[in-house]
Amino acid sequence: MRAFTLVIGVMVGLAGFGSAAHARPDEPPRTEIVGGALAGGSEFPFVVRLNNGCAGTLISSRYVLTAAHCASRTGATSSYVVTMGSPDLGSAKALEVRSERVRRAPGFTDVTRGDDWALIRLAHTVDLPVVALPTGTGLDGGALTVIGWGALREGALTQQRHLRKVQVPYVGDGTCGNLFRSKGYPFVASDMICAGDLRNGGRDACQGDSGGPLLRRDGARWVQVGIVSWGVGCGRAAYPGVYTQVSRFAADIRAAIEEQPARD
Ligand code: ARG
Repeated sequence: MRAFTLVIGVMVGLAGFGSAAHARPDEPPRTEIVGGALAGGSEFPFVVRLNNGCAGTLISSRYVLTAAHCASRTGATSSYVVTMGSPDLGSAKALEVRSERVRRAPGFTDVTRGDDWALIRLAHTVDLPVVALPTGTGLDGGALTVIGWGALREGALTQQRHLRKVQVPYVGDGTCGNLFRSKGYPFVASDMICAGDLRNGGRDACQGDSGGPLLRRDGARWVQVGIVSWGVGCGRAAYPGVYTQVSRFAADIRAAIEEQPARD
């Protein structure tokens, strides 16, 4: 699944690169994380980068939350290298920690069918801030922020060294489900939350942002309401970004963390 996703990413990248010289009028918007800005040094200290081209978040001193489509099947593995502690992946401050185990959502089959979440247990605990998970659906709406090191626009080949952020308006399940279902994509309202600018497009996550967080401000803290999951292209007005609805899985996620017996 991971290989499949990466292959798609490369294909989209090549297609975009190839067509850059022959701009067509029907081309999707190419404004730039699409449409965003650089994230400040300590704004999002809980976001991490995976060595497979995905992102994730620290939700405890030992666990990273990411997308199921960014993770191999459940089991022991040291094959993930998780980079954390700096929005600049090239910084000397960036810390690398290996994985110890993966736990993928048991029901996961395909991003369009929901259950797109996974946990990576780190080889050891880390001393960095963690992001809060929602305790209900109360924050699933309003002005949301998505961050990541992914492509600046649909079809862009490279990923970013510096973390970026963009504000994306919430799009309701009814509207979002209709947009995707009318084009033949399954949409699982209970498992998904959408965000995007339906008027102008141009603000979205993109390839390489998968597994990273969709965030909602709650007073002084950030709460993770979504996980970057899928979309059609990037930043198109007709297709909002689709995220795993964290409030739906928060209890499962917490239980999965607590199930692990050993502390260290
Ligand atoms: N699946 C993509 C990844 O692997 C993320 C796609 C998000 N797309 C979007 N338009 N919001 O990085």
